[in-house]
Amino acid sequence: MNYNEVFCEVNKLLKSHVDNGTVASYIPELQKVSPDKFGVHLCTVDGGNFAFGDSEEKFSIQSISKVLSLTMAFEIEEDKLWKRVGVEPSGNPFNSLVQLEYDEGIPRNPFINAGAIVIADVLVSKLKKPKEDFIKFVRQLSGNNQIDYSDRVAQSEKSKGHRNAALCNLMKSFGNIENDIDEVIDFYFDLCSIEMTCSELARTFLFLANYGKDPVSGNKIISSSKSKRINAVMQLCGLYDEAGEFSFKVGLPGKSGVGGGIAVVHPGKYSMVVWSPRLNKKGNSNKGVRFLEEFTSYTESSIF
Ligand code: DON
Repeated sequence: MNYNEVFCEVNKLLKSHVDNGTVASYIPELQKVSPDKFGVHLCTVDGGNFAFGDSEEKFSIQSISKVLSLTMAFEIEEDKLWKRVGVEPSGNPFNSLVQLEYDEGIPRNPFINAGAIVIADVLVSKLKKPKEDFIKFVRQLSGNNQIDYSDRVAQSEKSKGHRNAALCNLMKSFGNIENDIDEVIDFYFDLCSIEMTCSELARTFLFLANYGKDPVSGNKIISSSKSKRINAVMQLCGLYDEAGEFSFKVGLPGKSGVGGGIAVVHPGKYSMVVWSPRLNKKGNSNKGVRFLEEFTSYTESSIF
């Protein structure tokens, strides 16, 4: 399929779409991004690359990196991981404290902030140099040694990161955080601060479209069973309290970030990233969701 033509057609369909979303402002650095940027990149498992718009511009991947930290922690901890974090949709906003109290410090899933903070804690416990080792892993997945954290974004988030600190403290009080709170939270902010282009990020997610094996390098990153499970968690939890609607409209496993990116995979076919910084009320890219909805309808390529 010539996806470049499809992107143009889908973009035409969205011409009348008025985007009244707003750029994330609770992380001051993110507010500096031009709100009307729009990029798309799709990688097929057999080597095709298709792009549209601002697909070569770096953006803050934010929560999308939670898929990569989960991949690393799952590989290290195997099924023990699921004693500390669940795999159920939360139905609550990504940074909610409410449910954590009822669930006695066990986050519903690894993609809400609480769950990703537990995953960060696992990596702090198990990696010799968490910050260096994690970025090395992301560089391996992306086949690109230039991928890096943004200290600017991490510091900016830290300056306003009281809610994440509250989540971390609450979990520590229940015994679900092993390490020093500041160390875990700093590492969590680093994870979220990684910057990539749509093309770099789509390339990074390709192993999840290919049953755990990177089709470009030939490296087996994780087993097909783990790949299935990570995709299942993305399907159910990747868009937080919009995960049901996203499944209903788009029908692909996906993960969003407050930088305006959404990464999706179609196992056996492609990985794809859209980026548009204006967010809806659930903190997901407004135009990104609309574009993906039209895209999977037009190409009849949802997994359902
Ligand atoms: O912790 C936070 O709030 C951000 N670093 C990440 C949140 C995020 O990307 C949620 N995604 N839609």
